Amino acid sequence: MPKDKLEIMTEGGQILGVILSEIRTAAVPGITTRDLDDLTRRLCLKYKVKPSFLGYQGYPGAICISLNDEVVHGIPNETVIASTDLISLDFGVFHEGYHVDAAFTFTFDDNDWAKQKLIKTAKDALYLAIDQISPGMKIGDIGYVIQHYVEQKGFGVVRSLVGHGVGKELHENPLIPNFGQKNTGTILKKGMTLAIEPMITNGDYEVYQESDGWTYKTCDHSLSSHYEHTIYIDDNNATILTVLPE
Ligand code: MF3
Ligand code: CO
Repeated sequence: MPKDKLEIMTEGGQILGVILSEIRTAAVPGITTRDLDDLTRRLCLKYKVKPSFLGYQGYPGAICISLNDEVVHGIPNETVIASTDLISLDFGVFHEGYHVDAAFTFTFDDNDWAKQKLIKTAKDALYLAIDQISPGMKIGDIGYVIQHYVEQKGFGVVRSLVGHGVGKELHENPLIPNFGQKNTGTILKKGMTLAIEPMITNGDYEVYQESDGWTYKTCDHSLSSHYEHTIYIDDNNATILTVLPE
């Protein structure tokens, strides 16, 4: 029997997890984001996957590395990582015809309470949303849960960037906003594979795109955290396909 989409994307999610954890280990103060991009390319060769983002609509990196007030799509460059940075790694792999996509945020200082709370809120919002998913629910139910949780913690939910279907293409329908109303939008059906990805801020939710044509930053330069998993909608719930280092 040939492998089906679920088996292949499960494998892709495992490989993504191995690569991301090696990148996380290498991400220490003093190295550049380009060093991490170089490592990402080497690991993709080693594990025989293609980095999904490289060349996507002309994107020049193998991974997105977004620091501090950068929300997403930071391009690896000569920037040296500092011990005080808030770092988001967003990475996708293309394995046997299918993409998987995942992201997480970390710091080097477990005692930096403000940053830890921002990180934990994005992470908890993602798992809370995934935990309550079942077929028959609607897209708006996902956004409602994320928005409600994040705003109750006092943080902002980015509106202009959203989650998405993922599979043969990196970005597929439906779009999955991280805000919204219960019982609105597309119905979730068994077999769907979705990238759920709350992007939250320690301030206003407005973002702008930098002159590099990619990097999104918060308008008020508040810090931002991003968590993302690729999930599969099953008979009664959602299965997480991607693996994150923490
Ligand atoms: N994970 C990112 C997203 O879903 C993918 C970025 S594609 C890139 O938006 F080309 F910007 F890297
Ligand atoms: Co994504």
